[in-house]
Amino acid sequence: MNLSALVQRRYTTKRFDPQRRIAEPVIEQVRHLLRFSPSSTNSQPWHFVVAGSAEGKQTVAKATSDSYAFNQAKVLDASHVVVFCARTSIDDDHLQTLLTQEQQDGRFANDDARQGQHNGRTYFVNLHRLELKDAQHWMEKQVYLALGTLLLGAAALEVDACPIEGFDRSILDRELGLGERSLTSVALVALGYRHPDDFNAQLPKSRLPEEQVISLL
Ligand SMILES: Cc1cc2nc3c(=O)[nH]c(=O)nc-3n(C[C@H](O)[C@H](O)[C@H](O)COP(=O)(O)O)c2cc1C
Repeated sequence: MNLSALVQRRYTTKRFDPQRRIAEPVIEQVRHLLRFSPSSTNSQPWHFVVAGSAEGKQTVAKATSDSYAFNQAKVLDASHVVVFCARTSIDDDHLQTLLTQEQQDGRFANDDARQGQHNGRTYFVNLHRLELKDAQHWMEKQVYLALGTLLLGAAALEVDACPIEGFDRSILDRELGLGERSLTSVALVALGYRHPDDFNAQLPKSRLPEEQVISLL
């Protein structure tokens, strides 16, 4: 696969074809992409809500009224909308859950390896929790890695996408009951297929020149 062509081909879809749905096997791959995204210390401080039903998308669209109305049709006309959520705390229970999963998945040759992984992860988590006091921001940064993974992966699957920060987090958190699950919404990605009249599909890409954003040593 030619990645240069792929990053040129992917673009933010501003108008979706409401008649076209993503086939279930492709959505399975989308879920796989999300689950296998990398995160610092494999902390996976996330949850993804995939809205594929009309009711589900209506619920998500409640967070795109007023100031965010410019995003509402994207949510409603997309085939599926992924709500990217971050945990609101990274507690010892979560650290134990991660460790148990890694053990089950065969990551540790012995107890020392297991303890080493736990100590390393706890170090970074405590750095953000106790010293830098930016644990929420740190977790949300991990969630954005999954967002980037999905944008590139969707292009590889020939699915169009629109990343969306323009929505009301507090409305969506309430509508989806995220607070009760110790989660908060961070971003959305609408997925589907472009409408033939999507103006953005015709526009050239615009990026700062390579020498401005990349230095070679
Ligand atoms: C985190 C993030 C949030 C974004 N939020 C919105 C949004 O709310 N609505 C929208 O139409 N586009 C949104 N965009 C799309 C960007 O404007 C777009 O990615 C950028 O202009 C580059 O264009 P391209 O994606 O077509 O290459 C968002 C993009 C990212 C990465």
